[in-house]
Amino acid sequence: MAITQDSSAPLVVVVGATGNQGGSVVKALVGSDKAYRVRALTRDPSKPAAQAMAALGVEVVQANLVVENRTGLVTNFFEHLDAARELAEGKLFIDAAKAAGARGIVWSGYASPTKVSNGKYPNIVHWESKAAVTQYGRESGVPFVDVQCGSYGSNFVQPPFAPVKEEGNVYVLKWPVGKETPVAFIDVGSSDYGLFVRHVLEMERFPDGEEFVANAEVITVTEMAEQWSKGTGKSITLKPISVEAFKQGLEPLKLPPLLMALFPEFGLPSGPIPPGVGPLRKWADFVKDEDWSKILA
Ligand SMILES: NC(=O)c1ccc[n+]([C@@H]2O[C@H](COP(=O)([O-])OP(=O)(O)OC[C@H]3O[C@@H](n4cnc5c(N)ncnc54)[C@H](OP(=O)(O)O)[C@@H]3O)[C@@H](O)[C@H]2O)c1
Repeated sequence: MAITQDSSAPLVVVVGATGNQGGSVVKALVGSDKAYRVRALTRDPSKPAAQAMAALGVEVVQANLVVENRTGLVTNFFEHLDAARELAEGKLFIDAAKAAGARGIVWSGYASPTKVSNGKYPNIVHWESKAAVTQYGRESGVPFVDVQCGSYGSNFVQPPFAPVKEEGNVYVLKWPVGKETPVAFIDVGSSDYGLFVRHVLEMERFPDGEEFVANAEVITVTEMAEQWSKGTGKSITLKPISVEAFKQGLEPLKLPPLLMALFPEFGLPSGPIPPGVGPLRKWADFVKDEDWSKILA
């Protein structure tokens, strides 16, 4: 157990600790052989995920980190679907960390789709807002590292990414991608995202200005389908569809249009796994351990 209350240990304040990425960070810190004080921020300390943190020795602090409160922040685009708000709250978070004298900020951002696509896709707003927060952080004067998160395994257990049954007991992946499109996979439900963050915290020098992409492996969608079939005993194949058709699948989720437009042409950001990070759970591990009985009924 690496969590301590000893004031000589470094303090890590985790925004979003009850969620996927923040939760992964706490798991990784708990698994470190170095000692940390960990402070988890949540809107509701009574919720089970917050209580689970407290049981680990984490200090759980109530905070509603919204612009209206101006006390700090997590940006959770999918909860409010408002890119301007994500940017404003991202700036607030950085300002708050700076005012509190933070020695460094680790932020989960995203590359600017406008830049990645050389201006072709300027409207993928929730990635653009994350890139803008990153830029603000880099100019803040506080040492700032961007640890981007790859594609969650949990994305693939729900529409529009989950396999769809077709006649003949065959399951298809109706995605707007080519057969060789890469996916940067990470099992965010485990400590794997957090291991990248921990690596940054434990480097000899805090790598101010650097960018990491937390992924366990980069595999093509065809390889994904093959491993999915092998792990579940079902026939799962890719059935490419147009971005337009895919967008209809996104509508019920209220996801922004063009979310997937980058995939076929530009792939996803990915990065090397720094030495010492891991072992990481790969897609085949995720497939093996997930309960697919409802999805592949
Ligand atoms: N799906 C993917 O493959 C993928 C990949 C990379 C990046 N992302 C990005 O990941 C982000 C979501 O991260 P996640 O999956 O870790 O989120 P999540 O599991 O939904 O958790 C959200 C966290 O934010 C906290 N939170 C939300 N509003 C808050 C507020 N006003 N004040 C304080 N805390 C607040 C929640 O805490 P409480 O509820 O306890 O307050 C919770 O811990 C999105 O921006 C998405 O774009 C997703």
